Amino acid sequence: MRKYLVTGGAGFIGSNFVKYLFDTRKDIKVRVLDKLTYSGHRANLKDFEKRPDFEFIKGDICDAQIVQKAMRDVEVVVNFAAESAVDRSIDDPQAFIKTDIFGVYTLLEEARKHPGLKRFIQISTDEVYGHILKGSFTETSELRPRNPYSASKLGGERLAYSFFVTYGLPVIISRASNNYGPRCYPEKVIPLFVTNLIDGLKVPVYGKGRQIRDWLFVRDHCAAVDLLIEKGVNGEVYNIGGQQELSNIELAYRILGLFGKDESLIKFVQDRPGHDFRYSLDCSKIKKLGWRQHHNLNKGLKETVEWYKNNEAWWRPIKKKMDQRYQHGFWGEKK
Ligand SMILES: NC(=O)c1ccc[n+]([C@@H]2O[C@H](COP(=O)([O-])OP(=O)(O)OC[C@H]3O[C@@H](n4cnc5c(N)ncnc54)[C@H](O)[C@@H]3O)[C@@H](O)[C@H]2O)c1
Repeated sequence: MRKYLVTGGAGFIGSNFVKYLFDTRKDIKVRVLDKLTYSGHRANLKDFEKRPDFEFIKGDICDAQIVQKAMRDVEVVVNFAAESAVDRSIDDPQAFIKTDIFGVYTLLEEARKHPGLKRFIQISTDEVYGHILKGSFTETSELRPRNPYSASKLGGERLAYSFFVTYGLPVIISRASNNYGPRCYPEKVIPLFVTNLIDGLKVPVYGKGRQIRDWLFVRDHCAAVDLLIEKGVNGEVYNIGGQQELSNIELAYRILGLFGKDESLIKFVQDRPGHDFRYSLDCSKIKKLGWRQHHNLNKGLKETVEWYKNNEAWWRPIKKKMDQRYQHGFWGEKK
């Protein structure tokens, strides 16, 4: 029986990963450790709560005692726990330094006391590369993060790498592009647009909407992480991209189209300071292990819109409590 510790498992990607494991694997045990910050929800795990092979621990990855308890007898650690919103990191970086660097350090310190540990997957991000105007980043491209979120994520993943080199910890690092799909906290652009349109509200587009993002359906990401656990090489970094690049304004049009609406529902708002222009990943390394994206953006967006339409009970209470700046433009009205 394989035992997993999934940290940050009550968040968007972590909860999809737990579902992926239970959907695809037999004879496993999954333990989730999550602090339940604003973006973590116990409801994301409700389908598993009664299973005897599932366990939830509420706690902080910066707390060595809780981490020690959570890590007992596990073979695989997958660290999704993080402060994950770029705008919040620009507004107030401290929590990012704590969780995304010190939290990773705490996990690594405990992990090296566990001789039975076979894998430690550190979920990083393509944002550690900075942005790229032409071409795509490979795993050996220069690392030039440009905001406190991506800089702290880089700190965390390089620490993880140093534990591989120095202590022989079986670390693998993944760098994924922008994820979308069910259970994504509605401050992120796709669920923000979708839930606004369900309510007939305008969608706030930063600047002129020219920034380009590469969209990865969350289940494709989960399959990639699962593959890295099985076939990845310790000490290596793997890019995981959707290879579905689109400017934010094109994305707005695409989502408006799914609601049969036009551009009159777009509201241009003040741009994010230092907004990265474009991310793009070369994914040949993970493809050599046998991974493929199964969702193109059209298919993935339709599934996502349907999920939000059918799960209002999930997002309405969250959106009611959400920072209202996301609704109106985090950085204010257009100057
Ligand atoms: N969302 C994306 O597009 C994307 C892309 C690439 C990489 N990533 C990375 O994937 C991971 C998951 O992202 P997400 O979008 O699911 O984020 P999320 O904000 O939805 O979930 C993060 C989870 O971590 C938990 N958490 C935060 N601080 C914690 C702490 N100190 N101790 C324990 N738990 C804590 C939260 O409660 C939440 O459940 C992050 O590491 C993020 O950097 C995300």
